[in-house]
Amino acid sequence: MDFEKETMRLFAGTSHPKLAQRVADKLGISLAAVSITRHPDQEISVHISENVRSKDCYVLQSLVGDPNSLLVELLILVDALRRSSAKSVTAVLPYFAYARQDRRGSKRSGVAARLMADLLETAGVDRVISMDIHAEQVAGFFKVPFENLSAGSCFAAALGRDDKFSNFVVVSPDYGGVRRARAMADFLRAPLAIVDKRRLNPREVEIASLLGDVQGKNVLLVDDLCSTGKTLVGAAEICLNQGAKRVYAAVTHAVVTKESAAGLLACPIEKILVSDTTSLTEDLDKSKFEVVEAASVFAQAIFAQQTGASISSLV
Ligand code: R5P
Repeated sequence: MDFEKETMRLFAGTSHPKLAQRVADKLGISLAAVSITRHPDQEISVHISENVRSKDCYVLQSLVGDPNSLLVELLILVDALRRSSAKSVTAVLPYFAYARQDRRGSKRSGVAARLMADLLETAGVDRVISMDIHAEQVAGFFKVPFENLSAGSCFAAALGRDDKFSNFVVVSPDYGGVRRARAMADFLRAPLAIVDKRRLNPREVEIASLLGDVQGKNVLLVDDLCSTGKTLVGAAEICLNQGAKRVYAAVTHAVVTKESAAGLLACPIEKILVSDTTSLTEDLDKSKFEVVEAASVFAQAIFAQQTGASISSLV
C-alpha cells in the first residue's frame, strides 16, 4: 500500500500478535516496538520502546480469551502512547468484548458496553476501529468516531470459491442479527429467513420457529459470534427439520471454548467459516472450520484513515 508510512505506527497488544503482523504486512510496515510485562502480582506494565512524538498510533488488541486483562493492557498502552506525545491513538479492536451488554438486561444490572466506551475515551483514544460489533448502538456510546467494519466481503469471496454451495438462503439465527444477515443476503442476491430464538441464560437458548422458506435449499447461517454454539446448532437443526439440504455458517468472531468447539465439530453444519479476528481460531479443527483472513480489511481501514480516503465500502 502506497502512503506516507513514517507518520504512523502500529502496535500489537498481546492478544493476537499474528493478526497484528498480518495487518502490518498488508500495510507494508513493521510492527512498532513495545515491551509489555507482568509483575509477579500480575500488574501489567507497558514501555513504548520507540519515539512516537507526532505519530498517528494504532493499537491492535482483540478482547477475547482473557478480555479483562487484555482490556487493562489496552488502556495502559493507550495511556502510555498519549503520555509519549503521540499525535493520535486509534484502538483497533477486531473483537469488541462486552458489546452484548448494550442495555440493562435486568433491574440492578450494569451496561458494560457503555462503560467500555467511557474507559477507552478516558484512556485517550481518538478513534475506534472494530468489526461486526454485536450491537451497532454501542458505536453511539462513544463521542469519538467508531468504524464498524464488516467481514462480509471476506466470507462472500470464500463462498464464491465453493462450488458445492449454490441455491441458498441466508438465515439470521436470531432477530438481533437480521440487519447483518440481510446485508449478506443483498450482497449475495439470496433470499432471507429468520430464526425466532430466545436466550434463556448465557448458556441456553430456545428455538421457537423459522420465518421464511428453506425447503430444498442450502442454508447460510450468518452471525457475529459463536460462543457456546447453541445458537448456531439450534438454528441449523430447525432449518434441516424444515427441509433444508445442507447448512453452512459464516461467523465473524469465534469466541469458543474447547467444549463448544467440540460441539460444533459434531453438529450437522457442514462448514463453518470464521474470520481470524480471534486467536482462538488457530486451534479449530480445519475439517469443519475454514478460517478466512480479515487482516486486509483492517489494513484498508488504516490506509483510508492515513490517506483521508473513504471507509464506507469496508463497512
Ligand atoms: C446473539 O445475539 C449473538 O448474535 C450470537 O448469536 C450469540 O451470542 C451466540 O452465542 P452462543 O454461541 O453462545 O449461542
